[in-house]
Amino acid sequence: MSEVFRSASGQLLAVDGLSVDYGLKGISSRALHEVSFDLQAGEAVALVGESGSGKTTTAMAIAGLLSTDARVTSGEVRYRGARLQIDDDAAMRPHRWTETAVVFQGAMNALNPVQRIAKQIAEPCMLNGMPREAAMTRAKELLELVGIPPDRGTAYPHQLSGGMRQRVMIAMALACRPSIIIGDEPTTALDVINQAQILKLLVELRSKFNLALLLITHDLSVVAETCDRVMIMYAGRIVEDGTVAEIFAAPKHPYTRLLIESIPNPAKRQRVLRPIPGDPPSLITRPPGCPFHTRCPSSMSICATQAPALESTGQRRVACHLHSSQMKSDGVLVHA
Ligand SMILES: Nc1ncnc2c1ncn2[C@@H]1O[C@H](COP(=O)(O)OP(=O)(O)OP(=O)(O)O)[C@@H](O)[C@H]1O
Ligand SMILES: [Mg+2]
Repeated sequence: MSEVFRSASGQLLAVDGLSVDYGLKGISSRALHEVSFDLQAGEAVALVGESGSGKTTTAMAIAGLLSTDARVTSGEVRYRGARLQIDDDAAMRPHRWTETAVVFQGAMNALNPVQRIAKQIAEPCMLNGMPREAAMTRAKELLELVGIPPDRGTAYPHQLSGGMRQRVMIAMALACRPSIIIGDEPTTALDVINQAQILKLLVELRSKFNLALLLITHDLSVVAETCDRVMIMYAGRIVEDGTVAEIFAAPKHPYTRLLIESIPNPAKRQRVLRPIPGDPPSLITRPPGCPFHTRCPSSMSICATQAPALESTGQRRVACHLHSSQMKSDGVLVHA
């Protein structure tokens, strides 16, 4: 696993204080709450969290693909220092595919069932001005790159296996030579063998093209094998961020610790997935305090009333009163 030197000049993407609400008929729910992070060139970062924590919303916001009922209520996204108009579809078109490309889970839904795959791979190139013939040649090169014989380019999606369809999605994502690939659970719908092969392919392509990879997953074993850094998301917020080595060896946030402990570990005689009891808070009523406090085994009285800030120590960030500088300086650690 590579150590990425973090620098302002190496920064490709910056997400800064981003909040996104979904709202219909006057009821709005906050899916993202002041999310901030950056991605450096060539870096592989995992975004992990329970269902509904805001991972896909983060990916969609970055790619300018938020649904029409979503509203960016604060913050911004910058690519190489320039602010992106993420809520303007037309303004985002030149950025999509060429700078950031997204690989979704379940390729069958994302591919056009009545179009041959080579044509579909060529499409983003043509949308970006490449002549048809050159785009078709590029599609064949891309098929080869992702391990599909180029003569299979005439196949329709239903004529390919699930793993091959996901390879087609990766080929499409690479078509316009982006510098960032976002994989939103790209292997979830696949069997274990195909999962491993697709992850291996992503890792190889990442190092071949110095791609930054934002990998959204529920699977912490995938994170350990694939990524340099991991960000843990809970109820629309990033609650912990650090290198994979640091987070796995010494998680600071109780949620991160419980997530790691929930993974089956035969060495510790834990053979089944141990779910974290309780449910995430309502994103509509947004109760005060730390969003995890009702499920947290280390909850203190302050946790029910004040949301902890995401504080940095070097490259590590954590949002938990157990680790907040204010609490440490006051010496107040009273369990509720
Ligand atoms: N189009 C939408 N309209 C209204 N609410 C939405 C919409 N999309 C997502 N949400 C809500 O926003 C919150 C975050 O959803 P999101 O899909 O980003 O979570 P996720 O972490 O990707 O979950 P999963 O692991 O299940 O894919 C959830 O409460 C979800 O119900
Ligand atoms: Mg999702």
